[in-house]
Amino acid sequence: MRLLIKNGTLVTDTRTFAADLLLENGKITQIIHSGVFSSTPDRTLDASGMLIFPGGIDPHVHMHLPTPAGYSSDNFLSGSRAALFGGTTTLIDFVTPHKGELLKDALQQRKTEAANCLTDYSFHVSPVEWRPSMPDEIRACVEEEGIPSFKVYMAYKASIGLEDEDLKKVFHAVAKAGGMVTAHCELGDEIEKLRNEFVKNGQTSPEYHPLSRSAKLEAGAVKKAIGFAAEAGCPFYIVHVSTANSLGFIRKAQQHGQKVFAESCPHYLLLDDSRYQGTFEQTAPFVLSPPLRKKADNRALWEALSDSTIQSMGTDHCPFMFEQKKAGIHDFRKIANGAGSVEHRLSLLYTYGVLQNKISLNRFVELTSTQPAKIFGLYPQKGALSPGSDAYLVIWNPEKEQIISAQTHYMHCDTDIYEGFKTQGAPEYVIAGGEIAGEKGRWTSAQRKGRFLKRKI
Ligand code: URP
Ligand code: ZN
Ligand code: ZN
Repeated sequence: MRLLIKNGTLVTDTRTFAADLLLENGKITQIIHSGVFSSTPDRTLDASGMLIFPGGIDPHVHMHLPTPAGYSSDNFLSGSRAALFGGTTTLIDFVTPHKGELLKDALQQRKTEAANCLTDYSFHVSPVEWRPSMPDEIRACVEEEGIPSFKVYMAYKASIGLEDEDLKKVFHAVAKAGGMVTAHCELGDEIEKLRNEFVKNGQTSPEYHPLSRSAKLEAGAVKKAIGFAAEAGCPFYIVHVSTANSLGFIRKAQQHGQKVFAESCPHYLLLDDSRYQGTFEQTAPFVLSPPLRKKADNRALWEALSDSTIQSMGTDHCPFMFEQKKAGIHDFRKIANGAGSVEHRLSLLYTYGVLQNKISLNRFVELTSTQPAKIFGLYPQKGALSPGSDAYLVIWNPEKEQIISAQTHYMHCDTDIYEGFKTQGAPEYVIAGGEIAGEKGRWTSAQRKGRFLKRKI
């Protein structure tokens, strides 16, 4: 299949220029001056008035995540479909083994669960405990499985969170294997203590969720983990940074030349803790961790996006049905923790970032595609518009207006934390593997299966 996309404006992390693109056998094969291409392709798309981005890469999603309130409500099929419609063509999800389960066994199981994923995909693997075989298991992930990134949790101490001594061992083992640690940074012991105290005092509503997980507890964990990473000489990526307090520690480490990367998510830029005031129905959908912060934090994060303290934009996509949120109607600790937004990442960042002059168009591409590709070992296969790169791209209609609603979104979830948000800019076509997967918000007949991507950093 030879697909010619003509008359579009190509946007990469560094350039914006008019050109035609030829896609053949799943790859970009030519980028040529508009109108110069002479032979006959199988199909031509006219992208006049459109922007063309490399397909989005969401480096932080949780499809089909097991929790005490049941699985997150998007499985790999429904979640990847929503991702594609939103312009994201690659997902990095997680492998979270049971205690005692070998990393490689948990990885095989997760690959089975992801077999129907429509986007390309990879995983970060989570050591949820320490054991003598862990350095070898980590090395095997890096060298044999193509998984160079590992995720540790400093929160969730009752289940998957690690003690400090074990965290340090993971940082050392990953550094030795040539990988990268990513971390959920919140001080877990303090959080457990506060949550339990609130509930003991009868303070059980969602309002107490953010009060038990303050910005200080996030920043304290960020500072501590940066120290562990420095001590081990390990590249370090901090997921879902939500507060100005954390940014100070991140900037300082980066200024000292430490390899520290930071990710934020649209909800930390666009929503704030006023969402925890109201009825259970109104507030429970916003129970996610770290919690939403203050407006001043929103502003600080936008600045950090534009000054490059934050390199990457994920979603932490982890939706739950309202029935699952209701598991915690009498105890906020039991509310299913998380929210979905994999479908909205590009349109939100474009509308509230690019169109409001908070970030440039090139920075938008850098944050949503090129940097996640570079950081996690997918570049230039992904994150680029170059001959030889995968033909996964988004033909973006900069004028298309939408209003976000759970009634119309593709995510498998009966609420939407962005309900009523207006957006301008959306995919007109989404190209996956050189074929048109989505066309003006509809599926085409080309239902291409995604591939598991081996990575190297
Ligand atoms: O609320 C969230 N973020 N749920 C998913 C698990 C995590 O912390 O990333
Ligand atoms: Zn997390
Ligand atoms: Zn997460």
